[in-house]
This record gives sequence, C-alpha cells and structure tokens, in this order.
Amino acid sequence: MAGQQEMKEEELSFSLRKESAWASPYCLYQFQNFLCPAIHIQAVNNSQKYFEAKENDVVVASFPKSGTIWMKALAFAIVNHQRLSTAETHPLLTSNPHELVPFIEFIYSADIPEQNLRLSKVAEPRVFGTHTPLPSLPKSIVESNCKIIYICRNPFDNFVSAWNYFNKIKPESLPALPMDEAFEMYCKGIIDYGPWWSHMLGYWKESKARPNKVLFLKYDDLKVDTHFYVKKVAEFFGCPFTQDEENNGAVEKIVKLCSFEKMKDLKVNKSGTVGTGAVEKKNFFRKGEKGDWVNYFSPSMIEKLSKIIEEKLSGSGLSFKEYY
Ligand code: A3P
Repeated sequence: MAGQQEMKEEELSFSLRKESAWASPYCLYQFQNFLCPAIHIQAVNNSQKYFEAKENDVVVASFPKSGTIWMKALAFAIVNHQRLSTAETHPLLTSNPHELVPFIEFIYSADIPEQNLRLSKVAEPRVFGTHTPLPSLPKSIVESNCKIIYICRNPFDNFVSAWNYFNKIKPESLPALPMDEAFEMYCKGIIDYGPWWSHMLGYWKESKARPNKVLFLKYDDLKVDTHFYVKKVAEFFGCPFTQDEENNGAVEKIVKLCSFEKMKDLKVNKSGTVGTGAVEKKNFFRKGEKGDWVNYFSPSMIEKLSKIIEEKLSGSGLSFKEYY
C-alpha cells in the first residue's frame, strides 16, 4: 500500500521547482505551494492521506526556528496539567519535547500501518507538532474540532535562529552558509517550509476566521508574560486552571518547567539526538531570547527585511512594526 503511494525524487525533479536548502544535503521542492525538504515530501504526502485527527487532539504548528520546542513543552504540560504533577516525575524532565510531541509529518516517514496502530494507542489528549502550512495539513485536522496553536516569531530573530541552527547541524563535509547568502535566500522565502510569510499568513487568517480553532501567538509576547499566555492557552484548550490551582502556583510551575534555562540544563536535552535527521538535542537550545537579531543585522539588512515584511503582510493585520 505504502509502496503504491511512493513519490520518487526523479519523478518530482522535473515537475517541481527546486531550490537549495541551507547548508543541507537535501533540496527543497515547491510542493503544494511551499518549499518542502525533499526528505519530508513523502511523509507530508502520507500524513495527508493517513493521519486521522481526534476531536481532542492538540496540534502545535510553527514555522521552523520560531520556538516550536518551547510551545510543544508548554502545550504538553498545559493539556496534561490535571493529570501530571510538575514534580520530579513529570515526563518533560526525562524526555525531550520532540519525543513527547512528535511532528505529524515525520511520523509517516516510517511504516504506515504500524504508525497508525501506534498512534491509536497514544494517551489522550494527544499532542502533535507540525511545520506543514495550513493549506497542506491533513484534512481531518482542519475539519475536526481539534485545536491548533500557532507560534510565530518575528522574522528578524527567526532568521538569526535559523542561520545559526542550520550551520550548526550541517554535515562536516558541507561548507558553512555565509550570513549574506542565507539572508538573500530568506528574503526570497527560500528556506525549509517557506516562504515564511505565507506560512504565517495562512495560520493568521485562519485564527481570525476561526478563533476557537486556531490560536495565534507570538514568541516575543510569550517571553514578556509567559504566565498570562499559559492561562490563555489552557482556556483555549478547554482546560482552564481553577482558582485553587492558580493559588497553589500551578501556572508558575509550568512556566518554570518549560523555561529556557530549565530545559536547556536538563540532562535529557544536553545529549543524544532526536528525529529522522538525528539532530543533536542540544542544538534546539541556543539563546532563547527576544531581540538577539540586533547583534547580527546591519542597517541595510534591517531596511531590506522591513520592506519585505511590510509588502508581504500588507493589509493582513499581522505586523512586526514594533521591531523596526
Ligand atoms: P534561538 O536560536 O534564538 O536561541 P524551534 O524550536 O522552532 O526550533 O526554535 C528554536 C528557538 O527557540 C531557538 O531560538 C531556541 O533557543 C529557542 N528556545 C528553545 N527552548 C526555549 C524555551 N524554553 N524558551 C524560549 N525559547 C526557547
């Protein structure tokens, strides 16, 4: 069955636009209106065919390098707050968030019947991650009542985070990607799951049209007042904190458990790899700050990216004006 659906790279190569990825051994293909890493096309395609959302699922959606791992940890802790204590036994203390909250599109890179069986046994509510743009999500996610939470990062910090990350995880055999080249690619939207503006806008518009379905959050807002957003997300998921829980510090415990400092220092996040690409877990934790971009951007870069943001997001109501 899986074999019949297989999409061979050579079949794709003459039909789809092809771009280089950032310091990576794979290419990006324009697949269903986004630049999909070649190594993920089959899995995205499979997930569209085989993933069946449950009504109480939670999906953490994001553009890569926007704080996905943080949002996964928060979503997992929030949705389970009545079931799991934040004490020493909490799963986030012994598992990386990418292990507890798998990416839907990566699940289906492996044997499909086995994956569906495994997924049917996952404790509910299930929490998943995805980098897939909204129009390419499995239909059942969009049509069911499951919740989508989108974490968005300002493009300045998103670029800096991505540039550092891709150069860190690249195979030794590949040369580093100079910042000016990466910036040109970013400005053209050439990056895994790009362009970033259509990724953001897809979820932004859906969050406006269906506010009970999609909650759109900004990384920087979350950094400023994590406590407020933990409560907001819990309400959105339909599992608000009671007054007693709040008085007992339940919200603050989740904020601390998922904080950058705490997560970065955990043994489980310091060594070992995760995912199909076997990325070293430590590479998901760099600085974890808002505004680090000022240490990288020249005035001409600021001018160029600001213009692109204005042009691409114009009229949508989504804005990053406070950054430039
Ligand atoms: P920086 O490179 O700016 O430090 P993603 O999970 O989408 O790959 O995003 C990674 C970014 O989120 C990195 O940003 C990383 O340091 C930051 N990050 C990881 N854990 C975090 C946390 N608990 N709180 C805030 N930021 C976090």
